[in-house]
Amino acid sequence: MGPLNQVATNVRWHHAAVGPEERAQRLGQRGVVVWLTGLSGAGKSTIAARVDARLHARGRHSYILDGDNLRFGLCRDLGFSPEDRAENVRRLGEAARLLQDAGLIVLVAAISPYREDRARVRERVPAGHFLEVFVDAPLAVCESRDPKGLYRRARAGEIAGFSGIDAPYEPPDAPDLHLLFHADATSPHAPVDSSLPHAEAAEAAEEVTGQGPATDGERRVAVGASPDEHAAAIVALLEARGLLVAPAGA
Ligand code: ADX
Repeated sequence: MGPLNQVATNVRWHHAAVGPEERAQRLGQRGVVVWLTGLSGAGKSTIAARVDARLHARGRHSYILDGDNLRFGLCRDLGFSPEDRAENVRRLGEAARLLQDAGLIVLVAAISPYREDRARVRERVPAGHFLEVFVDAPLAVCESRDPKGLYRRARAGEIAGFSGIDAPYEPPDAPDLHLLFHADATSPHAPVDSSLPHAEAAEAAEEVTGQGPATDGERRVAVGASPDEHAAAIVALLEARGLLVAPAGA
């Protein structure tokens, strides 16, 4: 390896005169990464788009980083091996972190099937500014939707290493928000209270996604029937965490 290919060592961090606090004041919001994880076809991109639209309508500044889309550019050299997915998630995480630092509400939609890869991203973002959202549509639902025909091809053996078929998906242990679908409140990954009969589970979810005060780190569950209901639950979470207003005391 020539000297120009070496990993950089003689570099130092440049501090900017304008920091996250100043940017938050200017933008009237806090920078945050909202990380949507779940199987292909779970609805991550659709929900992210609805959140983006809701935030835009409220005068907030948001941006979507979509796993599929970034594979056309920043991540175009990557495939779907565990190593490549780790690198994909790392790049998405670093891009998200920069935009978060710039003060944006960054909506990341990527399968990001490995817990460890997601945890590494969380560590790179300031505490309280990374929210993991589990879009928990079960495999059978995703497969029946099959919007891109990829499950059919994976079942036919034309695509190897497809998440949920012959490659793993590791659900979050303690997501900041767990989105369940009406039809699927009995998901094996669902938290205890969603094993309640469906109506009760929905009621319990409404309670936790309501307007009441929320403590940082609290885990929420929302049962929704549409991407829009799930988007509303994400916006409610951002609101409850105080991320949609400028920092107090300025
Ligand atoms: S991730 O696992 O690295 O986070 P990412 O979200 O960027 O994945 O890309 C997933 C998308 O790539 C899927 O929505 C699907 O359209 C496509 N895809 C192609 N091959 C695979 C595969 N083997 N496993 C999962 N998704 C695949």
